[in-house]
Amino acid sequence: SVRSAIRKRLIELFTASEQDFVSSQQICDELGCSRTAVWKHIEDLRKEGYEVEAVRRKGYRLLRKPDKISEDEILFGLETELFGRPIYFQEEVASTQLIAHDLVNKGAPHGSLVVSDHQTNGKGRLQRTWHSPNGTGIWMSLILRPEIPLHKAPQMTLLASVAIAEAIAQQTGLSPSIKWPNDILLNGKKVVGILTELKAEADQVHAVIIGPGINVNQTANDFPDELKDVATSLRMELGEKVDRAALIQTIMSTFEKRYDEYMEYGFAPIKQLWESFAMTIGKRIVARTVNGQYAGTALGINDEGVLLLETEGGIQNIYSADIEIKST
Ligand code: BTN
Repeated sequence: SVRSAIRKRLIELFTASEQDFVSSQQICDELGCSRTAVWKHIEDLRKEGYEVEAVRRKGYRLLRKPDKISEDEILFGLETELFGRPIYFQEEVASTQLIAHDLVNKGAPHGSLVVSDHQTNGKGRLQRTWHSPNGTGIWMSLILRPEIPLHKAPQMTLLASVAIAEAIAQQTGLSPSIKWPNDILLNGKKVVGILTELKAEADQVHAVIIGPGINVNQTANDFPDELKDVATSLRMELGEKVDRAALIQTIMSTFEKRYDEYMEYGFAPIKQLWESFAMTIGKRIVARTVNGQYAGTALGINDEGVLLLETEGGIQNIYSADIEIKST
């Protein structure tokens, strides 16, 4: 609609001027409308939660955007070439993974991103559920179509956790660590979980669907009792709210950059980065796999992204497991 096009243009103007005032005249010129109309459009923005300061003879200045995620909020200022293009945003879904699978079957291109404000049936790893309350987190699924053999698919998961940990550090200044394979922790509590699903055939990967769940603006009370001791949010660690749309943009940028690097130079540089974030290495852990439980010391990951565990019976390769960290 005309109204949303104007709104879009206005937000662009404010974003371009950063913290500065934009004069009414400038807005009139850009939008081709009267001063009265400008004032009305500003009122519209305010109703949507934008905080706009108006100062006589100076004009208008955007003080704060609402913590809203929508296609537009994510697309303005998105600096990627392919990641996050296009974006499918829905306010409420059962699971963004299900939508992504559907899109994969319909031929959605590499880089397509599904984002939602609320999942009613969020999926976790190992058949668990993922608590995805409304308006607080980042629940998304990214469709990638890498031309890699099936056995390299787990590397994509490690790449994802590196890119997200980097983005969090960049955006918030916090120092996240990664617990193998791809939980991201702050102060020992889980802030990000990533579900990776594949569409593959024989030895060919058709698509990798990477689904991170990021606890962003929850307060302690937003977590159910059973999660209170093990989960946290960026806001709880930082002491202030984090702009979700901006964080999605940063993740798309770091992810695309690391993905390109991976395609060009292989897993080695990613492995090195992953290890710089890893908190699992050198620790005594218990790995619960479908084939049983192994206890030992985590030695690191190999070039395939497989966890190497030194047990009493020798070195065990761990492909998929739930990890419990015992001690330092
Ligand atoms: C884990 O168990 O740690 C992985 C959790 C992954 C949750 C995310 S939220 C977005 C995407 N959609 C889902 O249904 N699950 C993933």
